[in-house]
Amino acid sequence: MTGSTTTSAAWKALVRHRDDGIAPLRNLLADDPDRATRLGIEVGELWIDPSRQQVTDTTLGLLADLADERSVASSLQQMLDGLPVNATEGLPALHTALRAPLHEVVRVDGMDVVPGVHATLDRMSDLAASIRDGRRLGATGLPITAVVSLGIGGSHLGPALAVDALSHLARTDLTVRFSSNLDGADLVDTLDGLEPASTLIVVCSKSFTTVETLTAAESARSWLAGGLGDGRVADHIVAVTASLERAASFGIHAELTFELPDWVGGRFSLPSAVGLAVMVAIGPSAFMELLAGMRLVDEHVATAPTLRNGPVLLGLIDVWNRSLLGRTSMAVVPYAHRLRLLPPYLQQLSMESLGKGVTIDGRAVETPSGPVVWGAAGTDGQHAFFQLLHQGTDVVPCDLIGVARPAEDPRGAHQDLLLANLAAQAESLAHGRTGAEAAAGGTPPDLVPHRTFAGNRPSTTILLPELTPSALGQLLATYEHRTVTAAAVWGIDPFDQWGVELGKELASRIATEPADGAHDGSTVELLRRYRELRGT
Ligand code: F6P
Repeated sequence: MTGSTTTSAAWKALVRHRDDGIAPLRNLLADDPDRATRLGIEVGELWIDPSRQQVTDTTLGLLADLADERSVASSLQQMLDGLPVNATEGLPALHTALRAPLHEVVRVDGMDVVPGVHATLDRMSDLAASIRDGRRLGATGLPITAVVSLGIGGSHLGPALAVDALSHLARTDLTVRFSSNLDGADLVDTLDGLEPASTLIVVCSKSFTTVETLTAAESARSWLAGGLGDGRVADHIVAVTASLERAASFGIHAELTFELPDWVGGRFSLPSAVGLAVMVAIGPSAFMELLAGMRLVDEHVATAPTLRNGPVLLGLIDVWNRSLLGRTSMAVVPYAHRLRLLPPYLQQLSMESLGKGVTIDGRAVETPSGPVVWGAAGTDGQHAFFQLLHQGTDVVPCDLIGVARPAEDPRGAHQDLLLANLAAQAESLAHGRTGAEAAAGGTPPDLVPHRTFAGNRPSTTILLPELTPSALGQLLATYEHRTVTAAAVWGIDPFDQWGVELGKELASRIATEPADGAHDGSTVELLRRYRELRGT
């Protein structure tokens, strides 16, 4: 969406509404016991409850007006229709086509892309099934029993999260691991205990130029060659990429190369061939259930009215928190060990998409945009950063995510306590505790200021029945569309990531021309000391 955000009538009304003051959450919740049932939204199996956000019906009505004025629904529809919404790269953003059923038609440049998507899924399924049932043999005739996926950012975070989240569905006789970090220690740990003869390396890189991934791929190839001999490594390396030529130049066979279309953004690529390792871990039909869950949310986002549209409502509340209330960050706290990789996944999805200072038409953004996203699994987070959430000088909106029926609950003793903690944190963040309440509870006067909580700290609760592939897909697609919604209001391109390019360019110059006089004195001194320590 181009044009100005802040000159819209709804924006000005929102500013006035904010300046008039919003009642504290404590009052909003006390005055309306039905607030959760009224504001909560079911999206597929997800229960999304924004009733502890500092919004009134007036706020929500104005946010809906803002969505209208900023054409949020038509921005989402243009994305779903395959228009070139990634304007700075002249590309559509069609991750939704990756989970479209075969009968649906989605055109890019007049060509229906859905048959190609399903052809790739079929090839992935064949390979994954052959590994899972022991038919896929390595160069020496041993079955492949380990898959190592190399990739970074979007070529790592989603698949690693999905494999971890759905590990209760994984076969115990198959090993699926990931390596992303340029630090060689990551690859050494990842390959530890594996045998080249029974290992398949999957090199995931949309561009096939990413230095972290290509360095790991070279090292993994040497590791394979060390065990198998140079001439026998090709059967053990698979590529997932948009650059078939670069994969071929690396020596990867065409029949082991899976295309990642250039109209899929890296951070939106889990449902593509980037998910090959996930498919090996949980099986083709469970992977298809994951896609079906995402698809369900795609249909919801395209049809539900603004204030009953889960991802759109969450995106609008994000704009409210960030741009109007000035909240600089948001915390993601899954009360589920199996979702512990959700915060880093969402860091890329949100911050690479929304961390922009210019609008899609090249003007400076008019309001604060993307928040810093951070977090960790509850209850670990409670014993690390919740002190700041409760009593720090910044207000940090939180997403608190729970799972009702986890796959593991020894003695049935953990889950009720875990959910009690989620509920307790949401309630205490919202209500706080006044000085009078602290004093009435017997707190000595000198400790009252320390044991007083301001409250009014907003959170959204998301509850899943179980961590099924479908429910996970619903959760991730909700965050995808929420991100695109906020971008539409701010008028920014959520699908490019030019900000990471400068550092990449400089790193490759420093690595290849360390004596280059173009670097500043601090870099020169760092490199001098480094070389001294390395003895080079
Ligand atoms: O971080 C920059 C980025 O381009 C991400 O957008 C992307 O997910 C990641 O690097 C990996 O890129 P590629 O899949 O091309 O290796």
